[in-house]
Amino acid sequence: MKLQSKTNEIQEKARKHLSPVMTRVTELVVDRAHGAKFWTTDGEEYIDFVSGVAVNAVGHTNEKMVEAIKKQAESLIHLGLNYGYYETAANLAEKLAKITPGNLDTVFFSNSGAEAIDGALKLAKAATGRPAVIAFEGSFHGRTMGATAITASSSKYRRYYEPILGEVYHVPYPYPSQLKNIRKEEVEEYCLNQLQKVFDLRVDPSRVAAIIIEPVMGEGGYYPAPPSFLQKLREITKTNGILLIFDEVQTGFGRTGKMFAAEHADVVPDILVLAKALSGGLPLGAIVASRELHEKWPAGGHGSTFGGNPISCAAALANIEVIEEEELVQRSAKLGAEIVNRLQQSIGHLPGILEVRGLGMIIGIEFDQEAAANYVPRIKAKALEKGLLIMNCGVSGQTIRLMLPLNIQEAVLDKGLSILEEATREVILGS
Ligand SMILES: Cc1ncc(COP(=O)(O)O)c(C=O)c1O
Repeated sequence: MKLQSKTNEIQEKARKHLSPVMTRVTELVVDRAHGAKFWTTDGEEYIDFVSGVAVNAVGHTNEKMVEAIKKQAESLIHLGLNYGYYETAANLAEKLAKITPGNLDTVFFSNSGAEAIDGALKLAKAATGRPAVIAFEGSFHGRTMGATAITASSSKYRRYYEPILGEVYHVPYPYPSQLKNIRKEEVEEYCLNQLQKVFDLRVDPSRVAAIIIEPVMGEGGYYPAPPSFLQKLREITKTNGILLIFDEVQTGFGRTGKMFAAEHADVVPDILVLAKALSGGLPLGAIVASRELHEKWPAGGHGSTFGGNPISCAAALANIEVIEEEELVQRSAKLGAEIVNRLQQSIGHLPGILEVRGLGMIIGIEFDQEAAANYVPRIKAKALEKGLLIMNCGVSGQTIRLMLPLNIQEAVLDKGLSILEEATREVILGS
């Protein structure tokens, strides 16, 4: 009774004072979380297949991270990176220089993914002196104005904010189910032709500062761009003096079975944007590029009060240490393939399911358009009733995406997958 009233009290306050602009997926009141589970103020246990939207790569309240956060909080909480150096920011920048591909060795820290995206666009414009940016249909890059300008995963993200300043052109992403009337084997060529068409008809390549792409489309449907497509983009950008930006906000830090998705295509972008699993839960984003490129960004032209906060950097260092020590990148590749295999066998054949796919532990179950509208919301609701939190994505909500901690315990994983399978069968087959 007492617990119930605490839940009600929190819900009431939140409903009254938190802005309703943010989509509310559940009204659960969460008290604590650990690993891949969380508990509500009513004492109910849930399995979490969302991980704060691909943030908690090493699980909730990971012991090493908690320890690092506490230790840092006792010595330095905030300074502002322009008023002095401190160890956690220097160590994290050095660590990112080591683990990111190629010559990317210099870092600007921000507070979030969108903010890092905005910074990356500013860097590209300042370094090239060019105004235009090319992005992809279906892509999601965040909600600040700059990130909104290049986002095209739903008109709801742009409505009311247009015209958005800046010259942005969108071209199709090589995602076959979203390109009606194009044969699967022709999708890549079609998208490259569309890019050429933009160059021919709308913006001369010499005016383009950057092409920005998610190597695996996230919010737009959990679909990986073919490595050959990313390699072609690398060639085209090099030839035309355009910077190639990879938005790895969602794909970084082992999620795809490599530390960074760029490695699957063996492509080194000019700018790599990171956030989410970088710090495993504290606000932090990073723009990683070569020293040479960062030196073209006029000093004072960008900055941040909180960016590279000492505690966020300490959390990120501990998080990356756990990923390395527990070999979670390798685990993501192996376990991800096993999960995809299991789901293909158990539910992949059900009516309305187009494909179960994955690259490491970035795993999607895609439904056809009708099933996406009819089944997906009901599967999510049924899974929640049974104690599993899942989320979908996609331009028409077509893909259930699994975002498990990379170190999820096998028993919890098995239980969560069983709930997902049961909920899917019950909704689709009615049994
Ligand atoms: C690929 C991608 N880029 C950028 C962002 C924006 O990140 P944030 O919500 O931290 O601003 C997101 C968030 O979902 C994302 O998935």
